[in-house]
Amino acid sequence: MRSLIPEFEALRARFPAGFASSLVLPCLRRIQEERGYVADEDVEELAAFLGVPAIQIEEVLTFYTQFRRRPVGRWHLQLCRNVSCSMRGGERLIEHLERRLGVRPGETTADGRFTLSTVECLGSCGTAPAMMVNERYVESLSAEAVDALLEELR
Ligand code: FES
Repeated sequence: MRSLIPEFEALRARFPAGFASSLVLPCLRRIQEERGYVADEDVEELAAFLGVPAIQIEEVLTFYTQFRRRPVGRWHLQLCRNVSCSMRGGERLIEHLERRLGVRPGETTADGRFTLSTVECLGSCGTAPAMMVNERYVESLSAEAVDALLEELR
């Protein structure tokens, strides 16, 4: 996180005094962009930098599923398991991905290529079932589309 301090200082200068809590989300987003996840030491350092309790940062990290606390594979597949996606075959796609990759949600393939996760609504219900591949949305999925995607990403 230390390399981001100048950027965080500039961000803090744009906020009125006493609004350090408002910086937690944008700072965590940048930390994750840089490291790939938010480490325990990042939490401690950010808490010290902002002057907020570490538990406040932990609360944000546990509330928003977009934040990762562990390294993930080269490709992070986040498949929606909420109602619209489930009704349009999302559950079968999770099973399909488990079989294809040989991992369960929360796990990374042995070669470090893929991490499989299930998440709540991605806000793409109209094109369910939906999945995120790193920062990219992939929508109106089918088993065939998943297979083609995996080939593309190998
Ligand atoms: S239920 Fe899957 S995107 Fe909304």
